[in-house]
Amino acid sequence: MLSATERNAILIEMRGFLESVQGIVAGLAEQNTRAIATSARTSGMASAQGVPQALKDKLPTEFKKLGMATHMAFDGLARESMEIGDRQVILKQLGALMGNCTTCHAGYRIDEEGWRRK
Ligand code: HEC
Repeated sequence: MLSATERNAILIEMRGFLESVQGIVAGLAEQNTRAIATSARTSGMASAQGVPQALKDKLPTEFKKLGMATHMAFDGLARESMEIGDRQVILKQLGALMGNCTTCHAGYRIDEEGWRRK
């Protein structure tokens, strides 16, 4: 249960994740390691700064761990892309990273305070 503002903040972050994945896949197809790194970094740890403490306090620990691991995995993918840039390795990292998306989506829903889903 989150306020409308808090829920929106998380959904915005999520759409950023999806944009990064899109940019990474497009970059892989074009063999453009710089584009891959730029897209990945957009969802890295730096993007997780500025989450209000009140929101952090409401989120379950496991949820936060999975979220942080995902931000770190984007940074790792950006590094790999700039340092070695092996497509096979990047694809493997992307597959593992997206395991976090599906794991979390399988386990969590956000409802807005004040109403319930049927
Ligand atoms: C730590 C948990 C967690 C992780 C990791 C996570 N998500 Fe989500 N995501 C959620 C939750 C919770 C929702 C809201 C689901 C609901 O209540 O309907 C959501 C919703 C979304 C949405 C819908 C946004 C909207 O505007 O409705 C997209 C797109 C999305 N996630 C993409 C991703 C992608 C891509 C990844 C991985 C790179 C990812 N998410 C990783 C928890 C997570």
